[in-house]
Amino acid sequence: MTEIIPVQTGRPYDIHLGRGILNDIGSLAASVARTKKAVIVTDTNVGPLYGAQVRASLEAAGFEAPLYAFEAGEASKNMQTLLALYSFFAQSDLTRADLVIALGGGVVGDAAGFAAATYMRGVDFIQVPTTLLAQVDSSVGGKTAVDLPEGKNLAGAFWQPRMVICDPDVLHTLDAENIACGMGEIVKHACIRSQPLYDQLVACDDLPAALPAIIAENVKIKRDVVEHDEREKGERMLLNFGHTLGHAVEKCLHYNGISHGAAVAVGMHLITRYAEKNGLTPVGTVTQIDTLLTKYHLPIDCPLPLTNVVHAAQNDKKRAGGNINLVLLRGIGDAFVHTLPIADLPAFFGV
Ligand SMILES: NC(=O)c1ccc[n+]([C@@H]2O[C@H](COP(=O)([O-])OP(=O)(O)OC[C@H]3O[C@@H](n4cnc5c(N)ncnc54)[C@H](O)[C@@H]3O)[C@@H](O)[C@H]2O)c1
Ligand SMILES: [Zn+2]
Repeated sequence: MTEIIPVQTGRPYDIHLGRGILNDIGSLAASVARTKKAVIVTDTNVGPLYGAQVRASLEAAGFEAPLYAFEAGEASKNMQTLLALYSFFAQSDLTRADLVIALGGGVVGDAAGFAAATYMRGVDFIQVPTTLLAQVDSSVGGKTAVDLPEGKNLAGAFWQPRMVICDPDVLHTLDAENIACGMGEIVKHACIRSQPLYDQLVACDDLPAALPAIIAENVKIKRDVVEHDEREKGERMLLNFGHTLGHAVEKCLHYNGISHGAAVAVGMHLITRYAEKNGLTPVGTVTQIDTLLTKYHLPIDCPLPLTNVVHAAQNDKKRAGGNINLVLLRGIGDAFVHTLPIADLPAFFGV
């Protein structure tokens, strides 16, 4: 069964979600396309798995569909890949009326999305997320970016897709670490917005069977937050729960040896533990979070000294002036922003 989830951003679009829907990409793309050309951008892992299937569906719908696959991995989310994409677009005679199809995880979505946002001042693109993280998080919200040597996601744009096509069946080929990584963001969504989702995750005893429904629920949570705050001025900040310290952990480890989802898991645990100590979150909340993180194979223990992590967080790019915004919980499903002078951060964590 296919579910259509509308997103009312400045430029509205639909998220099509359903098992096996990848085979319908041709007709779905045709319903929003202005021409019959669509460049597929993917990576060297996803291309061999799903490239031919996607291409066949597009060609059956009458599209000319050249495919470009860049080397899989975060290291490819850079300016060199962006330039290679621009060249491929130009060599494929892509025009502003044509389509870009981002087939892959968050790396492909972010890089292909930013290429689409900037090539000829903006080409329509369709997100076809193939990791759990991309399905529940990065494909929704319109943020696109590449990394610079100086830091992650430093060059980017808000560019809403024309459509998102989300097929949970592609997750069958995803490894356990990447499933756990996506579960980190799913637990985050439950913590900030949904006690029922939290309860469902606690009760769940067959994750693969439950995932399609869980993905739909998470897409709606992210959609709701993004609709209220397309350009991250307020409510969207709540999506950063666990991320201030999570990013700091990733940075300290040079983005090596810990997945984003695992780092966010540690971040959610730490911020909630210390929010409890500061009397800002009811005692017992961190135990509730830990239960879920452990169940879904995510870490809670900080892999390096807390002092180092807090210091790195103080230098976080998202700090506003002399203040830092911490996302805390009043309880499961109820998040709020607590603003702190940046100098007070070590005291908050008792370091
Ligand atoms: N734009 C946003 O709002 C947003 C939000 C969160 C994260 N992100 C970005 O997303 C990126 C991380 O995304 P990710 O975790 O999806 O990483 P990723 O795109 O690198 O995918 C992880 C790995 O899984 C492989 N893969 C993808 N789909 C597969 C499938 N179906 N079967 C087998 N293998 C598959 C990929 O080739 C890669 O090796 C980061 O760069 C992060 O900054 C963006
Ligand atoms: Zn995240």
